[in-house]
Amino acid sequence: MRTVQTIDELKAIISNHKQQTIGFVATMGYLHEGHKTLLTKARAENEFVVASIFVNPAQFGPNEDLDRYPRDIERDTKIATEAGVDLLFVPTPDEMYPFESGITINAGEISTKLCGATRPGHFDGVLKVVSKLFHLIQPTKAYFGQKDAQQLAIIKLFVEAYNFPLEIVGVPTVREEDGLAKSSRNVFLSEKERDEAPHIYKALNLAKDTWLRTKDIEGAIAKAKQYINENTSGKIDYLEALAYPTLQPVNEYTEEVLFATAVFFEKARLIDNMIVNIK
Ligand code: PAJ
Repeated sequence: MRTVQTIDELKAIISNHKQQTIGFVATMGYLHEGHKTLLTKARAENEFVVASIFVNPAQFGPNEDLDRYPRDIERDTKIATEAGVDLLFVPTPDEMYPFESGITINAGEISTKLCGATRPGHFDGVLKVVSKLFHLIQPTKAYFGQKDAQQLAIIKLFVEAYNFPLEIVGVPTVREEDGLAKSSRNVFLSEKERDEAPHIYKALNLAKDTWLRTKDIEGAIAKAKQYINENTSGKIDYLEALAYPTLQPVNEYTEEVLFATAVFFEKARLIDNMIVNIK
């Protein structure tokens, strides 16, 4: 595996692989099994595999965890190598954003829901970096986790609406044995919080089961919220059910329902979700 830090080096290598299928996985590093699953899938489905590690300042709000986002490039390099990555792109913020164009991408109405409500501008920043990476790497397929269901829906919509010439592939959430969704931010949990955190997944299951049984979406949400409040010290940011991938309100015609939640712990805000297909 080769690691490059500059756009010039990246472009030079990519230009030698234009005739091949290119699989791409964008990450912010501190890689875990979730990322590794994306990388392994990219490896299996493409001739050349590119991964990026970039803690993207554009998607962090002023009071968020940009400065303390966990980093370990040595370990990440090992994991990427094991997963069969051919090229690892690790740019600096100056390399990615050498000047301010004043031109912005607005992720629109779909980005005002769920995480977007608490993190204004977050998805604009995600689309900013992702569009640059897509242009630089020119992948055939790019892989994104369902763990970030709203991000996946927005990127898919963006790519479709603006004719980016690639396929977006969604990959199911990878979990710890106790159900907690793998996340780079799990290291910020105290021991007590780590013990409580699997209740988030249990609450989503409870919402799903209650809804399937009763078809009462409000009741299902209320029950899941109560479960989190009673079983964790976390503070619920949101717990909602929306149609997927449109993120419109659920109605009788909805075929895929997204149950999504974000919970604040002392030093980490964890997100998780479950998509229920009732076709
Ligand atoms: P990051 O949080 O590092 O995640 C990189 C990719 O890994 C995303 O597509 C995310 O959905 C996926 N992922 C994370 N945890 C996962 C899990 N437990 N199971 C399956 N997939 C998982 O998401 C970002 O970075 C950034 O917003 C990025 C897209 C790189 C843009 O900066």
